Order: sequence, then C-alpha cells, then structure tokens
Amino acid sequence: MSTTSELRRLAMLREMGLTPVWVTRDTPPIEAPLSDAQPSDAQPSDAQTMLQRTPQSASKTTSTQAARSSPVVRSIDAAADAEIDTRRAQIVQMDWPALNAAVAACTACGLHASRTQTVFGVGDVQADWMIVGEAPGADEDRAGEPFVGQAGKLLDAMLLALGLHRQKNVYIANVLKCRPPGNRNPEPAEVVRCAPYLSRQVALVQPKMILAMGRFAVQALLGTEASIASLRGRLHSYEGVPLVVTYHPAYLLRNLPEKAKAWQDLRLAWRTLENGAA
Ligand code: URA
Repeated sequence: MSTTSELRRLAMLREMGLTPVWVTRDTPPIEAPLSDAQPSDAQPSDAQTMLQRTPQSASKTTSTQAARSSPVVRSIDAAADAEIDTRRAQIVQMDWPALNAAVAACTACGLHASRTQTVFGVGDVQADWMIVGEAPGADEDRAGEPFVGQAGKLLDAMLLALGLHRQKNVYIANVLKCRPPGNRNPEPAEVVRCAPYLSRQVALVQPKMILAMGRFAVQALLGTEASIASLRGRLHSYEGVPLVVTYHPAYLLRNLPEKAKAWQDLRLAWRTLENGAA
C-alpha cells in the first residue's frame, strides 16, 4: 500500500475510533486471534490477520509518521476526512426512503462493483429488537435480504425461541450492505464507509435492545477489539441503546456447544427488556 493510501486508511480508522486495531491484510500475524467469533465463510487466514499487529506494521507506522509531515499528504488526509464527514452529515438527515435509495445507489467503496444488489435490512421498522450482523454472503447478495442462508436459519430459530419473527418486532441489518467478494472479511475502509447507514438505521428504528452478533458488529458498534467472550454477559450501550454482545450464528454452527452461551445472551437481552431497564 502506498504511503498516501495508508494515511487515507488511517484517517478513516480514526473516524471509526478503530486505530490501531486494524492492520492491512498482507501482514502476517504474530499474535493469537483476538476474538473467538468468526464468520462462517471467512478464511482462517483472513480471520487471523484482521486484528493483529506485526513488526511489519510497526515499520510501516514509522514510515507513515515520516510521510505525515508532508503538506501534500496532510491535505489528502484532510480531504478524505472531510468527504467522510460530508457523507455522514447527509446520511444522518435521511428518512427511510432516502436511506434505502442511498444504500441502493452507493458506490462509496469498491464492493459496489462486485455486488448483485445491496442488502439493506429487513423487519419491523418500529421494532424493540435490532439484530446486527456482519455482511451479506452469497445467499443474501442474491436475495437482497440479510440472514437468509444457513446462519439465517439458525438466527430465525433463536428469534423464535424468544417468540420473535424477522417480520415482527425485530429489525435485522448488517454492518456492510454489500457482499465482500468470496465472503472475505470486511475491510476497515469498507466498514468506515458503510457505518453511517447502520447508525442511521438504528436512529430510525429506535430499538430498545441491540443484539450485536460477532466481532465485526461489535467492532463497528462498540469500537472495541475485545473478544466476544470478554464482552458477553453484561450490558453495553450504543448511542444510548442497551446492547448485548453474542456470537455470530455462523460461529455457532461450527461450535455447537457455544449455543448454550448464546441462549444465555438472548435471555440477558430479554430480561433487560422485560425488567424495563431499557
Ligand atoms: N452473516 C451475516 O453477518 N449477515 C448476513 O446477512 C448473512 C450472514
């Protein structure tokens, strides 16, 4: 990655409050993965490199720091910041039809080139519950609806256990509205560009409970690199909305014994709503 694009990336990460969590995918890992929840279709190598810091990234940082003193680079950095701010300021004003149209026409990151269609969200726009996943997979890209594949079937079963249905009293959305090619993990720049849409969806739904499923949802909403295991079991908050962290359904499909923990998480969310803590 060129120094300029590295700086642009850092500027975007600062916007998300994620620095220095994310590193480029071409740097080999030296630490164990930070999260135990990974999407079903992510390659293990993707999952391992996404959140780790390396000697290479340290030396990149040094060259980046040197380059940052360049006025040209600083102005590119500022332009990238300004563009992100402008988009966010526009999105924060949108109503449902405008937001839907903006997502459908979005070309803010490279994912638009490979998508079949955008995957906006589904459900009751006045729901008490909001479920946040990672990104569309192949099935969702075809259907235009989140969580319609195997992970979605498990999610539907989990919702049913709570007496909920994806069309009634639940709104389901992803961090990314477009499918990453080959179901790779979301890139940080993609998350930064897409995050304002999710933020606006939350503001419009005004849920009483958010269930953040998997590490990308958690990173986008809570801005933390902490593991799912360390975050679950207690209440968090996103923009004033109580938030419970749980495993991604795709992870549960590969780790069936963890389903019991996910059930505990659902019960925590349920109890919070029932007790009127929300
Ligand atoms: N995984 C997700 O996180 N979201 C989907 O929509 C499908 C699979």
